[in-house]
Amino acid sequence: MELMEVLRKRRSVRKYTNQIISDEALEKILSAGMLTPSGKGLKPWQAIVVRDPDTLAALYSCRQGGAKMLESATCAIAVFSDKEKTDTYIEDSSLFMGYMHLMASSLGIGSVWLQIRLRPSDQEGVTSEEFVRSLLGVPENMMPEAILVMGYPESQPDPNPMPEFPSEFVHYEKW
Ligand SMILES: Cc1cc2nc3c(=O)[nH]c(=O)nc-3n(C[C@H](O)[C@H](O)[C@H](O)COP(=O)(O)O)c2cc1C
Repeated sequence: MELMEVLRKRRSVRKYTNQIISDEALEKILSAGMLTPSGKGLKPWQAIVVRDPDTLAALYSCRQGGAKMLESATCAIAVFSDKEKTDTYIEDSSLFMGYMHLMASSLGIGSVWLQIRLRPSDQEGVTSEEFVRSLLGVPENMMPEAILVMGYPESQPDPNPMPEFPSEFVHYEKW
């Protein structure tokens, strides 16, 4: 598939069938993440793969009101980054997320970015970061960024339309 087609077909998918993601597909998704560029090539990210249904169910409360996409998810990759390793840890781990999201889509696996950084959890006075850190036993220096929630799509959203130019988002030469 041409890259532009892959990019257009990538959509956020929040409802999944019960089909399990194979180890092979999971490794491809993680490998795509590992191919992400990072500031000075320092790769500050760490990932926790969660497939245990009890842990997936517990993760539901990581966001205020509940992270509904976790209700049918068969897998989640929680992404953390080492803030002591580099000052570009947020950019680096965001790209890590994005590459995995795109690879999942190209394999026919639905996924969605679940924001953890700067969000409240469903527990009074507990942030999403604190919730995830405690549930998954994450060390203090590792910053919870986001979770890629995954599963085979219950239905496939339409591809995004091709951008049109001129565009309100693009300036040439000056603002
Ligand atoms: C930084 C970031 C944070 C996001 N956080 C969430 C989230 O917490 N929950 C959610 O359902 N979708 C989240 N999304 C997915 C966006 O809502 C989605 O990408 C956007 O609506 C465009 O739709 P599309 O991905 O289908 O093209 C996030 C995406 C990004 C890039």
